[in-house]
Amino acid sequence: MTTHADTLPAVHDTGSGSAVLFLHAFTLDASQWDHQVAALSGDVRCIRFDCWGCGASPPPPAGDPTLDGYARAVLATLDSLRIDRVSVVGISMGGYLAFALWRLAPERIRALALCSTRAAADTDAARGERLAMAERVERDRSVESIVEPMVERLLGPQARGEAHIADPVRGRIRRCSPAGIAFAQRAMAARADSTELLASIDVPTLVVAGTQDAIIPLPEVRAMSDKITGSRLVELGCGHLCNLEEPRAFNAALGEFLVPVAAAS
Ligand code: MLT
Repeated sequence: MTTHADTLPAVHDTGSGSAVLFLHAFTLDASQWDHQVAALSGDVRCIRFDCWGCGASPPPPAGDPTLDGYARAVLATLDSLRIDRVSVVGISMGGYLAFALWRLAPERIRALALCSTRAAADTDAARGERLAMAERVERDRSVESIVEPMVERLLGPQARGEAHIADPVRGRIRRCSPAGIAFAQRAMAARADSTELLASIDVPTLVVAGTQDAIIPLPEVRAMSDKITGSRLVELGCGHLCNLEEPRAFNAALGEFLVPVAAAS
């Protein structure tokens, strides 16, 4: 039987030194982190994944779609690269995956950067919308119907008007297969609530929020940060995709956070 860990997602490995795992948002892929790799791969080893069905990854494996399954495949890939501990940078869905990793293997996590993400599980309404989108793209055999609605949700008002930001986001969405979109939506819909987990986080943690995020309201991110002992919150004047919308400020905050962690490892 094929399991999640047998069908490993594509991995992109850049630079050397202390390893940092970058986990992308829904409808994107590892290239979402290009600015960060350009800025940081001289200091740290940047490991990026494409979720199944997105970027260069194979289609999702058979079986129940879960973020825990994805997390196990990420851990298996780290094993194959002989990487024991990592700093984890997750944005949105990547943050949900970071919580799954923390639940499964906290001893492998050196530090956490949680960007534009939430600890809470979905409401029933949100879950229903996810499942409806999964069915729609599978029925259409196309992701075209979600391109503009996703750009509208993911980017803040200013970034939406900037072609050099918005067009590559459109391109990344179009490179996802219907099966990849359906996998991610069903996995996110099934994810556990991680609110109780926050008090157990005892590694250095950076939280990044976009003040105009249309998906995860700022007060929710502030409340999440408050529940993580010693976490540092950085607020950027942008929408949900803070690392693409405000790359300089994002890189400055992330570099300031990660480089000392890497030096101490
Ligand atoms: C993401 O950006 O990863 C997703 O939009 C998050 C979500 O749908 O909850």
